[in-house]
Amino acid sequence: MNQQLRSQAIPFIDISAQRQRIGKAIDEAVSRVLNHCQFINGPEVTQLEAELAAFSGARHVVTCASGTDALLMVLMAKGVGRGDAVLCPSFTFCATGEAVALAGATPVFVDVDETTFNIDPASLTRGIATAKRLGLKPKAVIPVDLFGQSADHDSVTAIADAEGLFVLDDAAQGFGASFKGRRLGTFGLATATSFFPAKPLGCFGDGGAIFTDDAGLADTLRSIRVHGQSGDKYDNVRLGLTARLDTMQAAILIEKLRVFEDEIAARNAVAERYASGLGNAVTVPRLAAGCSSVWAQYTIRLPKGTDRDGFAAALKAQGIPTSIYYTKSMHQQTAYRDFPVADGDLPVSERLSNDVISLPMHAYLDEAAQDRIIAAVRGAVSA
Ligand SMILES: Cc1ncc(COP(=O)(O)O)c(C=O)c1O
Repeated sequence: MNQQLRSQAIPFIDISAQRQRIGKAIDEAVSRVLNHCQFINGPEVTQLEAELAAFSGARHVVTCASGTDALLMVLMAKGVGRGDAVLCPSFTFCATGEAVALAGATPVFVDVDETTFNIDPASLTRGIATAKRLGLKPKAVIPVDLFGQSADHDSVTAIADAEGLFVLDDAAQGFGASFKGRRLGTFGLATATSFFPAKPLGCFGDGGAIFTDDAGLADTLRSIRVHGQSGDKYDNVRLGLTARLDTMQAAILIEKLRVFEDEIAARNAVAERYASGLGNAVTVPRLAAGCSSVWAQYTIRLPKGTDRDGFAAALKAQGIPTSIYYTKSMHQQTAYRDFPVADGDLPVSERLSNDVISLPMHAYLDEAAQDRIIAAVRGAVSA
């Protein structure tokens, strides 16, 4: 390999590579919106919602301004608030628990499974008992399909049903993945996703969506996303938000959805190649039975005793960026450390925060770049 190739920087996520493929179609779609001028609730919003429903299998899709709003809106629609507990994993992006606290309820953090990084059913059961002991009323559980892999929805649903909780799936990273052959968007009462640009299906700004089979809930969500409006524009019947998805972002997402299946397959090919090249050097992510992933992140665990900062620096010196999701689990962060954690504590979340690191992952990562990354990782762990 010549020096120039060796030092060329590899992007962590390459949005510009996708633009080369569908940039013209996106430019035309944006230009259509600029010409019809229906920037709010334009026809593309309705079209996108119908296409997302067809893609996921959910009956109703309500788009909104972000993944955080998507979570919050469902909690608001269900009247979750003060005195209620919502169980969620601690090893996740902060928005999962943040939405609960914004709704006025108490997030109760539970641990995750060591191999899938997703919610641990045994810890969930303990967390429900913890919430009750603290005098809180457990209302909901938010499993997260972390790094793109579907959570164990059978176990979560069984526990939620037995305890009378509703399930709000946080598929901000996992939309497009499936569990036992069913796409995310069809589990629990509702599913929230994010279209943040770095997500597997991302727009060119902020955006999100909620998926549900419950027609009444979908109506309430449509009201909440516009200040709690009713049929009469000047009679607001509940508290709401300004939480619409812009028409321009909807137009962009329609074009991106056309290539999404293909991109998911490409991400899976990268993940398979990483696994065969790295499986005997580091702990590579594994898919649990019945689960698929859209590989929002490719997150490895370093061998015990590896200096993670040194590892990242060694890769950076070779033009290979890395990222750590998450250096702190939610219960370890300043804003959240006073919220309860499930009995038995969260040792797995804490361990993962110490030893995970994510490698470049996107649908346009070519084999030469993958080989460079594999060689660099192997070199850095054996150094
Ligand atoms: C697991 C998870 N939940 C929720 C969100 C929030 O999405 P947004 O950034 O669109 O508000 C994210 C975004 O990073 C996420 O990763």
